[in-house]
Amino acid sequence: MTDTTQFAGKTVIVTGAAGGLGRAFAEGFAARGANIVVADMNDAGSAETVALVEKIGAKAIAVTTNVTEKASTDALMDAALAAFGSIDVIINNAALYATINRAPFYELDPDEWDRVMAVNVKGAWLVSASAFPKMTQATGRIINIASATVFSGSPLWMHYVASKGAMIGMTRVMAREVGKTGVTVNAIAPGFTLTEASLSVMDDAETYGVSSRAIPRASQPGDMVGTALFLASEDASYITGQTIIVDGGKEFI
Ligand SMILES: NC(=O)c1ccc[n+]([C@@H]2O[C@H](COP(=O)([O-])OP(=O)(O)OC[C@H]3O[C@@H](n4cnc5c(N)ncnc54)[C@H](O)[C@@H]3O)[C@@H](O)[C@H]2O)c1
Repeated sequence: MTDTTQFAGKTVIVTGAAGGLGRAFAEGFAARGANIVVADMNDAGSAETVALVEKIGAKAIAVTTNVTEKASTDALMDAALAAFGSIDVIINNAALYATINRAPFYELDPDEWDRVMAVNVKGAWLVSASAFPKMTQATGRIINIASATVFSGSPLWMHYVASKGAMIGMTRVMAREVGKTGVTVNAIAPGFTLTEASLSVMDDAETYGVSSRAIPRASQPGDMVGTALFLASEDASYITGQTIIVDGGKEFI
């Protein structure tokens, strides 16, 4: 049964929560009593997420945020503190994903490479850097949303895969740098999951990769939420620097 008070009084900032996985994280923590900060550049989508969270009975604000700019990530923390008084959980979920140009590594556009790294790598760093000094030190949580493509080596996505591999490395560094405070830093590496974004990537999205999974069904955004809730919980206070692959048990090469 859902403990609707598990995260009562805690503030969870979810970047890229205007839809997709980010919205699922926002709803999952809201259902357990957390205050939610929706940080995205997509104001219309953010407003929808806020409305969904409020429907659950939790509090939420939307803060227009560009994770590639330090002034913006600093302002995000100030807005969260002003609204709710603490910063307890950061979910670094914002990324360039479905909209990126794909090509073999020998044909990738260098500007596209920089664009992806700016959001997926620098963005996660800047959000974490702005958050850490202001977050609840004894029990704070940073959760980075990486990707199982790091382990499958998905062709034509090298810039994206490299960005998510960087997140896994950053997770370990950050975990070691802040471990003494009680703040933990972990990553979730989702397999291909049905979101509006991923559905736009391929025609056979509903069945893509299903046959190579131990649990042979499509992955839904809600499938990622339990791992985030666990990593944010007191039960996970001795787990840090780790990456948990959540992909239904996919077979890798
Ligand atoms: N859907 C999948 O199959 C899948 C699989 C593995 C990992 N992931 C990861 O999960 C996360 C969410 O994926 P999704 O499918 O929900 O995609 P999505 O495109 O719906 O979510 C990404 C969000 O990030 C926001 N964003 C982009 N640039 C930003 C910026 N500069 N500042 C602030 N926000 C910005 C977008 O507006 C969007 O709402 C991403 O990190 C993605 O890489 C997704």
